[in-house]
Amino acid sequence: MEKIKMILDCDPGHDDAVAIMLAAKSPKIDLLGITVVTGNQTLEKTERNARNIVQCLEVDVPVYAGCGQPMIRQKMVAGDIHGESGLDGPVFEPLTKELEKEHAVNFIIRTLMESDGDITMVTTGPMTNLAMAIRMEPKIVEKIKEIVLMGGSYTNGNVTPAAEFNIIADADAAYVCFTCGRPITMVGLDVTRKVLCYPEIVARMDKIGNRASKLFVDLMGHFCKAQKEVFGWEGGPLHDPVTVAYLIDPTVITTKPMHTTIDIRSTESYGRTNCDFFGYQQLPPTANVAVEIDAAKFWDIVEEGLKLYN
Ligand code: RIB
Ligand code: CA
Repeated sequence: MEKIKMILDCDPGHDDAVAIMLAAKSPKIDLLGITVVTGNQTLEKTERNARNIVQCLEVDVPVYAGCGQPMIRQKMVAGDIHGESGLDGPVFEPLTKELEKEHAVNFIIRTLMESDGDITMVTTGPMTNLAMAIRMEPKIVEKIKEIVLMGGSYTNGNVTPAAEFNIIADADAAYVCFTCGRPITMVGLDVTRKVLCYPEIVARMDKIGNRASKLFVDLMGHFCKAQKEVFGWEGGPLHDPVTVAYLIDPTVITTKPMHTTIDIRSTESYGRTNCDFFGYQQLPPTANVAVEIDAAKFWDIVEEGLKLYN
């Protein structure tokens, strides 16, 4: 079966790290590159984290640094969850993996333009890099097979009552991506909050006993503790890997087509993904929004993904 070609645009970030783990070794995925954006932490930290993860996993995937600021507004980071480094917890070997010289936005443009239109863009951080690529070279739009994002929510947010972090951190970028006209699968908090990494899940992955499972356990040690302090949950919601799990096995989530717009004008609801769940507006759907997740299947995908490492 032909592999799914994808670019992972992310802001590592503990859950981004697990998304990298699943994408880098899956026999179903051809991970063309990892592009990094400011989000959970500043770009200097998120790009370093991405290189540390790739080096630790011993996978040969190029890492490109992208935008260090949102398109218009000032950046926000999520140090309360991901720590000062953006990836608190694991201790890595001295970093020798080099950053690619090409800017992430240029890599996205070049790779899409050279392609046959068969590349899936997966974003698990603010959508600045993809939006800037679309603005710099609109011809790439027709070359995007699908945009699969972790972001948004048709219920409530995790930064404000209305907005989820990846969207509010650069709502203008999300607006550009959601209005580009290509197929969008939105994996929002509505489903990612149903895959909480409880201690028994950590213990299950620890039993695998390889480099990926050790990294997983070290990551979750910090991530779950921080989520409990902030949200009071026993387990941390493993948001980002749901996007990659969907590419590996689309049946892991159920989606519903909804007319979805990004609120970039209001104050109270700035950054909200306005998903018309009931079709009140009778407008054409603009995104396939995840409404259910098979949590057991998701954790099986994660376990199988970690087992692929030595
Ligand atoms: O709201 C959750 C999202 O924000 C995840 O992608 C997490 O890594 C942060 O980027
Ligand atoms: Ca992320």
